[in-house]
Amino acid sequence: MSRDVHFIIGASGQLGTEFALALHQAGEAVVLSDIKPPELDALKDLPFECMDVRDRDVVHQQLIESGATHVHHLAAALSARGEKEPQWAWDLNMRGLLNVLESATTSPLVKQVFWPSSIAVFGPDNGPVAAQNGHRLPETVYGMSKQAGEQWCAWFRKHHGLDVRSVRYPGLIGELSAPGGGTTDYAVEVFDHLEGPEPYSCFLSEATTLPMMHMDDAVGAMMQIMSASADQIKNRESYNIQGMSFDPKTLFEEIAKHDPGFKAAFAPDFRQSIADGWPDRVDDSAARADWGWSPRST
Ligand code: SER
Repeated sequence: MSRDVHFIIGASGQLGTEFALALHQAGEAVVLSDIKPPELDALKDLPFECMDVRDRDVVHQQLIESGATHVHHLAAALSARGEKEPQWAWDLNMRGLLNVLESATTSPLVKQVFWPSSIAVFGPDNGPVAAQNGHRLPETVYGMSKQAGEQWCAWFRKHHGLDVRSVRYPGLIGELSAPGGGTTDYAVEVFDHLEGPEPYSCFLSEATTLPMMHMDDAVGAMMQIMSASADQIKNRESYNIQGMSFDPKTLFEEIAKHDPGFKAAFAPDFRQSIADGWPDRVDDSAARADWGWSPRST
């Protein structure tokens, strides 16, 4: 039997970097792709294809030529940048996803596709805890693209039998790679300011609680849902997964315990209203029941 080949789109991004490393360290065959090469030394010798996921022909060609059996499509514009450049974000997120889903259905070796959705699918009217099927009237372009993307995943499952799987990620916190253009980015960005002479200026207010997740759990969720048997994946849109929830004040107080010189100031900007539309946490009982989701950090 031939070996599985994992084709990772967006492999130089925040999640892609960590996921590629985890798969490589687990001995899996990976092919990386992005519009820019990976920065992490440990990934620099792996096969890399420079690819813009908006280019339908190139996506199709790469999935065939790489012999991909598993496609992980992680390239996306995040919420804050999406509000500044709505047409670009919609195009990248939607055209990219459709190119991947369509190419996967016509590439004979592809067995599974993973695509991340987000807590951004939820609108402001869910209360603090968003249910699996909570009210989805997102107020951002990013959230709209993720909501529509979930429906496209379900459509390709229904009409083409494509085994596409998805989870709704919260803000992701890792050490190896930075996020870019998101509303939850402060929780990573602050760690680059620990030595700075000025207080860290946080773009969200001190009591803005949001769902967050350690990168190990984010990578673990992807590995776990992709390893489950197809009949365990009862939801072909996307699953809520909860890690931890905290607000900036709580995080900064914790940092100050380790670094007594650390100071923060609060200067909420346009990202505050994005955060205000999202839940504090999500109910992930469906993911726990269907495929055994169980995070290590809560
Ligand atoms: N981290 C994302 C963002 O802030 C949410 O999925 O846009």
